[in-house]
Amino acid sequence: MDTLNATVAFVTGASSGIGEGIAKMLAVEGVKVALVARRQNELQRVAEEIRRHGGTALIAPADLRDEQALRAAVEQTCNTLGPIDILVNSGGIINVSPIHDIDMQDWDATMAINLRAPTVLCAAVLPGMRKRKRGYIINIASEAGVFVYAGMGAYAISKHALRVLTELIQEENQAFGIKAWAICPGFVDTPMAAWASGTNRDDMLTVEEVVGIVRFLLTQGKNIKLGPKILIRTMRNPFSPADE
Ligand SMILES: NC(=O)c1ccc[n+]([C@@H]2O[C@H](COP(=O)([O-])OP(=O)(O)OC[C@H]3O[C@@H](n4cnc5c(N)ncnc54)[C@H](OP(=O)(O)O)[C@@H]3O)[C@@H](O)[C@H]2O)c1
Repeated sequence: MDTLNATVAFVTGASSGIGEGIAKMLAVEGVKVALVARRQNELQRVAEEIRRHGGTALIAPADLRDEQALRAAVEQTCNTLGPIDILVNSGGIINVSPIHDIDMQDWDATMAINLRAPTVLCAAVLPGMRKRKRGYIINIASEAGVFVYAGMGAYAISKHALRVLTELIQEENQAFGIKAWAICPGFVDTPMAAWASGTNRDDMLTVEEVVGIVRFLLTQGKNIKLGPKILIRTMRNPFSPADE
């Protein structure tokens, strides 16, 4: 991954699941990574693993609901590792319920974490990317941000909006050489998928499969535009609609 070597990434959700997987993949490819989430012990675990394999990792704990903490983490990353070339918004939560049962506190938390925080971070890194005419934004949305599944409530709305945010970013920044993707996976076998207790883990995507797609996207030539919506469905989801 020559083009990414020695660049800097800021990865939210880096303490677990998809974010952790992407952070480790980037580190293997020579990218210096800032690891963002709340649980410092988990960030420490991921950082140690990265360093053991010769990579560079900075721990930047922050709560995605805290805009000031996010801005401080961005500043700390730029000062310590250098300007951010890759932003990965993987941190997220899931609250599901039909609309007639919706809890507005859950709604507020979901929107703050799944939508507002990625917006704050994209807005924070884009000016520098535009100046350097280079940058990658990877927003982890969901299959539930492409199709409408009954009962997915605030989660579905936040992920549809995150996908649109990403499409806007791509359109507004294409001339600056910036690429943005909304990765839209179905069930992925991570701690988050535990709420889907009826789903067989063997039918889910793996973190490695999702990370492999992200790696593929990052290594394509600079003139190639894929997405910005990247739908990754499992072959074994009986509920997936046949067509978009
Ligand atoms: N698993 C699936 O089936 C699936 C499918 C489609 C899309 N996705 C999306 O993929 C992304 C990653 O999820 P995952 O499956 O990897 O789940 P996960 O393993 O549970 O990871 C969730 C991550 O979000 C972080 N997070 C949650 N609330 C936070 C907060 N208030 N402040 C800071 N960080 C917070 C967690 O870190 P801390 O707890 O340490 O703060 C953790 O690192 C999410 O956006 C999710 O919606 C998941």
